Amino acid sequence: MLLDKDITLFNSSSPVQIAEQSAPKYTVFHGDCLEGMKRIEDATAGLVITDPPYNLGRFMQKRNAGVFRMRKNHFVSSGWDDLEYEEWDAKMRAFLADSYRVLRPDGAMIIFMSLMKLESLIAAAQSAGFYYKTVGIWHKTNPIPRNMNRTFVNSTEAWVYFVKGGPSGVFNNEGKVIHDFFEGSLTPGSEKKFGPHPTQKPLKLISHFVKVLSNPGDLVVDPFMGSGTSGVACLNLDRRFFGIELDKSYVDVAFNRLKAGIRL
Ligand SMILES: C[S@@+](CC[C@H](N)C(=O)[O-])C[C@H]1O[C@@H](n2cnc3c(N)ncnc32)[C@H](O)[C@@H]1O
Repeated sequence: MLLDKDITLFNSSSPVQIAEQSAPKYTVFHGDCLEGMKRIEDATAGLVITDPPYNLGRFMQKRNAGVFRMRKNHFVSSGWDDLEYEEWDAKMRAFLADSYRVLRPDGAMIIFMSLMKLESLIAAAQSAGFYYKTVGIWHKTNPIPRNMNRTFVNSTEAWVYFVKGGPSGVFNNEGKVIHDFFEGSLTPGSEKKFGPHPTQKPLKLISHFVKVLSNPGDLVVDPFMGSGTSGVACLNLDRRFFGIELDKSYVDVAFNRLKAGIRL
């Protein structure tokens, strides 16, 4: 169990401001990411790692895809997954500008994204001031074999690595070659015991980036934290954490995962 002083739950009416050294170790903010990020002072974070909505809701709906029906109870009413492209792009640009502002000069950012949206994400991040480093792939070893007799089974998601100052920042490779490719299974059931989230990322995947791209004691920010996987990675790796989530049921999952001090 974490101590009460180590974890705090805020919402948009809480008068909270996070500075580098005064922050509680783990902060969970219930509200919109743009509102939550305003609470973080300039140049305080070592890493922004996040998995924003890919805004594929309307695309899926037009195709009447099974995956749309599967997701509709979760995302169409929840935040940035069902917007016109222009609106999503404007919101992403506002979020990227704030990510740039809260990062220290040597800070880094990892954003997960659908492969279809990579070009617009990179352009938006570059206009916010980020230095683009690379695109990498998460290969899922056990994807759901949807439409396996009609097409290639979707088993990949992209992540994009940026740094604020460019061309380099913290990179804890410990002398080893690290490929731009991560292979691992979908999130195991053992990581979902505090409640379901439809796109929960595996802890191993998120921990990999937290370990390589930040140092112990750094503040790590996840503006779309979902079930709080990035927070649990910070707990295990001794980083501080500020996570934001719009949907209260996911805020509760994240808070309870952290509160239990769960190390899985
Ligand atoms: C792809 S999921 C993140 C999953 C997370 N990586 C995990 O492991 O659980 C994106 C999350 O962003 C949340 N979200 C959508 N719009 C938001 C907004 N404007 N502000 C904060 N969170 C938002 C959704 O409710 C969803 O939980």
